[in-house]
Amino acid sequence: MPLVSPKEMFAKAYDGKYAVGAFNVNNMEIIQGIMAAGAEERAPLILQVSAGARKYAGQRYIVKLMEAALEETDLPVVLHLDHGQDFDICKKVIEGGFTSVMIDGSHHPFEENIRVTKEVVDYAHERGVWVEAELGVLAGVEDEVSAEHHVYTDPDQAVEFVERTGCDSLAVAIGTSHGAYKFKCEPKLDFERLGVITDRLPGYPLVLHGASSVLPEFVQMANAHGGEIAGACGVPESLLRKAATYGVCKINIDTDIRLAMTAVVRKHFAEHPGDFDPRQYLGPARTAVKEMVQHKIRHVLGCSNAV
Ligand code: G3H
Ligand code: 13P
Ligand code: ZN
Repeated sequence: MPLVSPKEMFAKAYDGKYAVGAFNVNNMEIIQGIMAAGAEERAPLILQVSAGARKYAGQRYIVKLMEAALEETDLPVVLHLDHGQDFDICKKVIEGGFTSVMIDGSHHPFEENIRVTKEVVDYAHERGVWVEAELGVLAGVEDEVSAEHHVYTDPDQAVEFVERTGCDSLAVAIGTSHGAYKFKCEPKLDFERLGVITDRLPGYPLVLHGASSVLPEFVQMANAHGGEIAGACGVPESLLRKAATYGVCKINIDTDIRLAMTAVVRKHFAEHPGDFDPRQYLGPARTAVKEMVQHKIRHVLGCSNAV
């Protein structure tokens, strides 16, 4: 089955009050783990590629790996650019066959964010490609850009932004952040704000970035085998489940994949220090990705058997 647009996927998610997982991919094992989880759960999937992943694996390799994955599935799958920083990278991935792009102008002033987003929307829509944009700033580090504090999304600005740019979905800042250290004290999301944005943009798909839960089992496993991941803290799964019942149709997960793989690889080498065949540790890492994604689909996103 060829790649699909998020259009129908999100319409169903919105009505069904669930979210589709958008999982970051960097290599073959991650793609295979995610695809295997989706197949067992009969869930729609978004596989997303950051600029860093694109540089690491190469766009051509990622696209070819996805082609192989698609030959083996009948699930609806979107290939999405995560945090596209400018028009040029969006254009390049559209040329490569991606069905969805994010133009992330969130670090620009409002008018400049509108300008760069609109430029991408005009180009992408002519080619049938979906555009996600972002308004508001998540605290934390993404690629080279870092922000010390959240700038929560303003509902009035969100309405104006969507109207003026024509973007198809909008990532909002309500208290999540990227990485493994999201909250200093109690995890809290601004559901009041999310509710207002959902009401002001009825039927419109919203996106939650920075939505890993930093699963304690993987942090503990990594730390038990030589890791030093101290003070890690993610978004509680119950809050993500709740967000999915609002207008949030796409929930982004990368850090949980990283932790799952790292925990299992550390454990493997602690138990088998003499191993040097990559299949011996990448195989279990792939299985860990599959099981973690399956858990998310079933217990957090609520999209099991949505296909
Ligand atoms: O939001 C950022 C994602 O976690 C991707 O991270 O840029 O290191 O690939 P990356
Ligand atoms: P996490 O760091 O919480 O996994 O967020 C990933 C993300 O938002 C990718 O765009
Ligand atoms: Zn993100």
